[in-house]
Amino acid sequence: MPDTQIQDAAAPVAITAILAELRGIVGDRGLLTEASDTAAYAEDWRKLYQGRTQAVIRPASTAELAAVVAACAKARVALVPQGGNTSMVGGATPSADGSELVLSLSRMNRIRAIDPVDLTLTLEAGVTLKAAQNAAAEAGCLLPLSISSEGTAQIGGVLATNAGGNNTVRYGNARDLVLGLEVVLPDGQIWNGLRRLRKDNTGYCLRQLFVGSEGTLGVITAAVLKLAPRPVEIEVALCAVPTAEAALALYTRCNQHDPAAIQAFEYMSGQGMEFVLRNIDGTSLPLTKSPHYALVELATPCAGAGLREAMEQVLAAAMEDGVVTDAVIAESETQRLALWKLREEHAEAQKREGASVKNDVAVPVSKVPELLARAAIAAQKLMPGIRMVPFGHMGDGNIHLNFEQPMDMPGAEFLAQDHAIMDMVGEIVRDLDGSFSAEHGVGLLKPYMMPEWRGGAELDTMRKIKAALDPHNLMNPGKVLPGMRASS
Ligand code: MLT
Ligand code: ZN
Repeated sequence: MPDTQIQDAAAPVAITAILAELRGIVGDRGLLTEASDTAAYAEDWRKLYQGRTQAVIRPASTAELAAVVAACAKARVALVPQGGNTSMVGGATPSADGSELVLSLSRMNRIRAIDPVDLTLTLEAGVTLKAAQNAAAEAGCLLPLSISSEGTAQIGGVLATNAGGNNTVRYGNARDLVLGLEVVLPDGQIWNGLRRLRKDNTGYCLRQLFVGSEGTLGVITAAVLKLAPRPVEIEVALCAVPTAEAALALYTRCNQHDPAAIQAFEYMSGQGMEFVLRNIDGTSLPLTKSPHYALVELATPCAGAGLREAMEQVLAAAMEDGVVTDAVIAESETQRLALWKLREEHAEAQKREGASVKNDVAVPVSKVPELLARAAIAAQKLMPGIRMVPFGHMGDGNIHLNFEQPMDMPGAEFLAQDHAIMDMVGEIVRDLDGSFSAEHGVGLLKPYMMPEWRGGAELDTMRKIKAALDPHNLMNPGKVLPGMRASS
């Protein structure tokens, strides 16, 4: 088995020996060693994994980062690349034994170039997604990638996890926006693939190998992203729908009216909306309470396209046919943001509500209602009183089929059942030809699922690629591939 070609990283003692060398490369500002400074980097956003690290290295340039990786490779010290630390699957958390160093990209946060004619944005990995969106907007363009954590998530992590988000329905996932990459390989070599070509058939497509590899094959240090023309008309509506089938029917109607206009089509349940209204300040429901909701965003870069009329027409017909029971269209930017807040705060609201088990699944769009119906029944059978909180990107079939602890069950007892809950969902998702990881990645949480879902030739090829590029398993050990040393 190719796994045998991958050796273990060094024991913690090797780290102490190399810290002085690392300080020489990145300077005092670039190295954190006090526990009070490193603690936040050692825990994931969901607080599922409590790791430990002897140092956080914060290079200021690609050259510094490459020198750090080369030094660590020589000493066989493992590295955990980390951006905004917003992973939902522990993808950027070091192991609990203190044998891994965190490699933070935060100081590499320059926009290198923006070209509104080529529609490209060249930027470093530590730029937050929000800052990248703003830079594109200032140049009159749109970076068509939007996720709930965009204020904190950084481009390197967004690409390493192939993030999806709200605009996949129109523009695809992060991988569809990447024209070029700069990557530091596990041996410290710099691969400068920062090309901004729309056509380039020159051998294997290396950039797509690193996108979605979750830092296990190298460190993404910069990228060239595709931009889109900036929309000049945007219409957002929040709709109350009686059933998940009705939400799907509304999506189909929007699609039939003008598929090119749909920029987002999001689903929310009554339970999730209740969580948001209860836990997030400044939120209120601007329409009748409902068991299901859809958030529709239409947008176009063409002035005078009449999107408002289009939205009104679709909604009026849907209301007449009982597909929509109530709806509100944003009248201003403030209202637009307020409607989006009801959707975007779902993850935070759920976190404040208590312990949760997340299932970031994808099924064919047409199967979303069946997925929700079957999961609701199976979940109650497995754990009476469990609260299902499904929400997400209905337009591309990616639903966050999350569960919250029953009211009377302690959080720890609930979390001890996480695999049973994930397996219950997995069985239904598999039956519907779906995926167990749509946009959050595999991280530390899901490698155990890989043999069952991606076994045989697929997993074998992944292991061979890992062994070829990172024979000593120094890049984000324990993530993505199973059996590569438990990290927590
Ligand atoms: C979202 O779309 O808000 C997320 O990806 C978050 C989640 O699954 O909780
Ligand atoms: Zn999502």
